[in-house]
Amino acid sequence: MTDNSSVFIVGANGQLGLALQAQYPGAKSADIDTLDITDRASVEAFDWSSIKTILNAAAFTNVDGAETDEGRVAAWKVNAMAVSNLVRMALKHDITLVHISTDYVFDGSQDPHTEDEPLSPLSVYGQSKAAGDILVSLLPKHYLLRTSWVIGEGKNFVRTMLGLGQKGISPAVVADQVGRLTFTSELVRAIDHLLTHSCPFGTYNVSNGGQAASWADITRTIFDDAKIDQSVTDTTTVEYYKGKKGIAPRPLKSTLDLDKIRATGFNPRDWREDLKAYIGKEANS
Ligand SMILES: NC(=O)c1ccc[n+]([C@@H]2O[C@H](COP(=O)([O-])OP(=O)(O)OC[C@H]3O[C@@H](n4cnc5c(N)ncnc54)[C@H](OP(=O)(O)O)[C@@H]3O)[C@@H](O)[C@H]2O)c1
Repeated sequence: MTDNSSVFIVGANGQLGLALQAQYPGAKSADIDTLDITDRASVEAFDWSSIKTILNAAAFTNVDGAETDEGRVAAWKVNAMAVSNLVRMALKHDITLVHISTDYVFDGSQDPHTEDEPLSPLSVYGQSKAAGDILVSLLPKHYLLRTSWVIGEGKNFVRTMLGLGQKGISPAVVADQVGRLTFTSELVRAIDHLLTHSCPFGTYNVSNGGQAASWADITRTIFDDAKIDQSVTDTTTVEYYKGKKGIAPRPLKSTLDLDKIRATGFNPRDWREDLKAYIGKEANS
């Protein structure tokens, strides 16, 4: 893909959106302040004539927030209704839609998750994202990328744990949810790979590669890499959330099977390598 001016990044100020803007300088971009994709009239009024590819990084990603009365409405608006607005425009103007989904569309009983696993979301967030997946799958020209545990510019797990460690806190961290981190750099590299090589349209799992690990083990790796001398205690999901209200159910097994994207010639980098580089950058920022 060479002509960045025909690319439109939606949700451009989020973790993934920022990484996409860096990858595609000169691309058109918008976030909720410039184009609220839940507003059908605004989406239809947008000038789509020069757009060949929509990269949809917009989403309602507050998993626990989606369990509230207002959050449920907001999640469905952004993750499903807004997707129907984009799908309509993609169909009308013959645009390729790249859309991002999540392992939360599954209940976490299958390990690892393959692209053809039946949908079985546990939470409101997962249900609203699953609805978006179904809409996108109807488009002839789509890439639906399912990813997990995204780390980029913004509030994320690595930054939270670094913050705790640097404050001298030894955290108890969930050890029964297992998966792999996905650095936004890797997600962007996968998107660019699929587009550049005109890979077959469809659904692809994308995360970093390497051995799957629990949040607790990932925290130990973060502390080792950042030379933080704090211990990490294993806890269970049930124990961690005991007494807390409004917590969304989470899949325990989040590992994505990466064979399909590997078969296109894309080799996911080990999450441990990208974590080291990320922590190095954080230390110098
Ligand atoms: N984060 C993860 O761990 C994770 C895991 C698996 C999959 N994913 C998926 O990966 C994708 C990217 O996630 P991310 O972490 O980059 O999300 P993020 O940082 O929360 O960014 C989402 C962006 O979408 C914007 N947005 C929300 N409502 C919008 C609307 N109505 N119109 C236009 N823009 C809107 C948000 O703006 P505001 O901030 O102003 O609301 C934000 O800038 C999402 O599809 C997400 O479901 C994420």
